[in-house]
Amino acid sequence: RYPDLTPTPPMGWNNWSYYMCDVNEKVILDNARALVRTGLAAKGYDTVTVDDCWTRKQRGPQGELVTDRTKFPHGMAYVGRELHRMGLKFGIYGDAGTLTCEKYPGSLGHFQQDADLFASWKVDYLKFDGCNVPTAPGRTKEETYRDVYGQMSRALRATGRPIAISVSAPAYFQYEGDALWHRVIGWSGEVGNLWREGRDIAVEKHTPAAKWSSIRYNFDYNAQLAALQRPGRWNDPDFLLAGDSGLTETEIHSQMALWAVMAAPLISSTDLTHLSPAALRVLGNKETIAVDQDPLGVQGKLVRHDEDAAVLSKPLRGGDRAVALFNSGDTPRTVSTTAAVAGLPAAHSYRVRDLTTGRTTRTTGPLTATTLAPHATALYRVSAE
Ligand code: GLA
Repeated sequence: RYPDLTPTPPMGWNNWSYYMCDVNEKVILDNARALVRTGLAAKGYDTVTVDDCWTRKQRGPQGELVTDRTKFPHGMAYVGRELHRMGLKFGIYGDAGTLTCEKYPGSLGHFQQDADLFASWKVDYLKFDGCNVPTAPGRTKEETYRDVYGQMSRALRATGRPIAISVSAPAYFQYEGDALWHRVIGWSGEVGNLWREGRDIAVEKHTPAAKWSSIRYNFDYNAQLAALQRPGRWNDPDFLLAGDSGLTETEIHSQMALWAVMAAPLISSTDLTHLSPAALRVLGNKETIAVDQDPLGVQGKLVRHDEDAAVLSKPLRGGDRAVALFNSGDTPRTVSTTAAVAGLPAAHSYRVRDLTTGRTTRTTGPLTATTLAPHATALYRVSAE
C-alpha cells in the first residue's frame, strides 16, 4: 500500500478547468501568488498543480520528457523552487498511457524515468491520468490499468521522495458496471492517495447551464461512494468552480458545502488573480474547510436522497456531526431531518451552528432548513448538549 501522504483531503489549485492547455509559467506563478495573497494558502490550499500540455510533443534523445520552454522558459525545477519558496507544494500532471488526454507523451514504458525526473524537480503531488492506455495482450482492461498504475506507484516510491498520487483509473470505469468500478476504486486506494472517480467537472468554456449540471452530476456519483472511502484515501469528484462565470453565489456555496461534507479534495480551478469577494468568502470559509479537513477523515453519508433533496451526515472528531441539507431542485423548498437520523446520540438538546451564516440555534431534535433557494445547501455543525 502506497504511503499515507494525505491524512486529510488534499487542497490547492489546478489550472485545468479555467486555462486548459493555455498553461504557462506566468499562469501558474501568478495564481500561486494569488493563493498566498488572498490568504487561501494559509487556510490550507497549498498544492499547485500544472495540468496537461506542459511538455513538448516528443520525448528527448534519452527518452526523457521535455518541458515546453515556450510555455515554461525557466523549466520545471524553477517552477517547483518558486512554489516551495512561497510555502506551497508542487503538483504535476502525467498519464499512464502512450499519450496524455491532450496527446502529449504519456509515461507508458517510462515509469521509472519519469518518476525520477519528477523527484529531481522536487514534485510533491502527481495527478496521474489514464487516457490512451492500450489493453495489454491477454489481459483485461482492469488488469492492464492495475498493472500500469502499480508500476508508477512503485517507481515513485523508489525515488524516496514523498509524492502524493492522484489516480485517475476509476474515471475510466465509471460506466462499466458498479462492481468493476468499485473494484477499481478499491485498488486505486492501494496504489495512490486519492482518485478521480468520474467525469470532468465543466470547464470554463462550457455553457453556464453545463456548470451547475456537472456539479450536480459529480455530486450524485460521489455521494454514492462513501463506503469506499478510507481515512487518508479520498474520492475525488473534481474541482471547485467558485470564481468561474455562470454559477450563482448560492451554487458555489452549495458546491463547497457538499464537497466539504463528502471530505472531497478542495482543489480550486479558476482564475484566482481576479477572484470576486463572494468566491473568496466561499473558498475561504474556515468552518467549512474544517469540516472537510476534520481529522477523523470520514466522508459524509447520504441519510436521505430524493429527486429534489439530499441530506448527508459526516462524523467529526469529538462527536459532532456535519449535516448538509441540499435542495437540488429548481424551486424553493424546506429540507429537514432529525439529529437521530443524522446519527447523533440521544440528548435533550442540540446546538446547531449554521456554517454559512455563523448563527447558532438550539433544537430538541428536528434539523430544518426552511425555504432553501433552488440549488442551495445549508451546512450545519450539530453537537449534542
Ligand atoms: C482529463 C482529466 C482532466 C484534465 C485533462 C487534461 O480529462 O480528467 O482533469 O487533466 O484530462 O487533458
